[in-house]
Amino acid sequence: MTDFPASTDAQTHESQLARSWRANAGAWTDAVRGQRIASRRAGTDAAIFEAVTQTGARRVLDLGCGEGWLARELAARGCDVVGVDGSAELIVAARALGGARFEVATYAQLASGALDLGRFDAVVCNFALLGEDLRAPLDAARSLLRSGGALLVQTVHPWAACGEMAYADGWRVETFTAFGDGFHEPMPWYFRTLASWLAAIRAGGFEIRDVIEPVAADSGKPLSLLLAATLPARHSTPA
Ligand SMILES: C[S@@+](CC[C@H](N)C(=O)[O-])C[C@H]1O[C@@H](n2cnc3c(N)ncnc32)[C@H](O)[C@@H]1O
Repeated sequence: MTDFPASTDAQTHESQLARSWRANAGAWTDAVRGQRIASRRAGTDAAIFEAVTQTGARRVLDLGCGEGWLARELAARGCDVVGVDGSAELIVAARALGGARFEVATYAQLASGALDLGRFDAVVCNFALLGEDLRAPLDAARSLLRSGGALLVQTVHPWAACGEMAYADGWRVETFTAFGDGFHEPMPWYFRTLASWLAAIRAGGFEIRDVIEPVAADSGKPLSLLLAATLPARHSTPA
């Protein structure tokens, strides 16, 4: 992973981010379904599944669902799940396996009420909050959650992902070289420190309930950061 050139502005990064998930949809689907992502095998898949099921949620929105593995797993467990993603190509892949309802929408479209999905007990974002401005996905989550509903966000562990670079917010780039062939477009993503993650979730109107750091059994190193938050009653509207 490298720093993105400082001259490129945030809007350009966001456009390339969206483009990468359309262009890389097939390769990403193969990587996920082929279990080629080591951190997922080592525990992040299990961690997010457990975090959602522990909330006792019956209706779950999988925000940025990708090819849909988590939505399918939760639906198989008895949840009523809707998966939404901005990549039409990934939603085609998700629908091909079925198991849950899958819809195409960007976070901004969802926040502006583009889809009539009803109200959810939990919204889960598994490695799906990748941009600098989190207002759209958090606005969407807030508007679609019931009062007291849960928000679960799993992301790269800031300290583990920091590498040799400065521990400071900023755009970086993922080339997916560790995940196999067929990734045509690099993905800009916005690195956040732990303090920045907590501040962003709170600024979105949520109360942080738990900070979880899944650890790899073999190395003892953190695999991810998992934030569990709640929508306070004052932000709710009647279902
Ligand atoms: C790393 S993938 C994770 C997919 C899935 N949650 C999983 O666990 O495999 C990130 C996903 O977020 C989606 N995404 C990122 N930004 C988005 C946006 N602004 N609107 C809708 N989807 C977005 C991408 O299309 C991609 O499918």
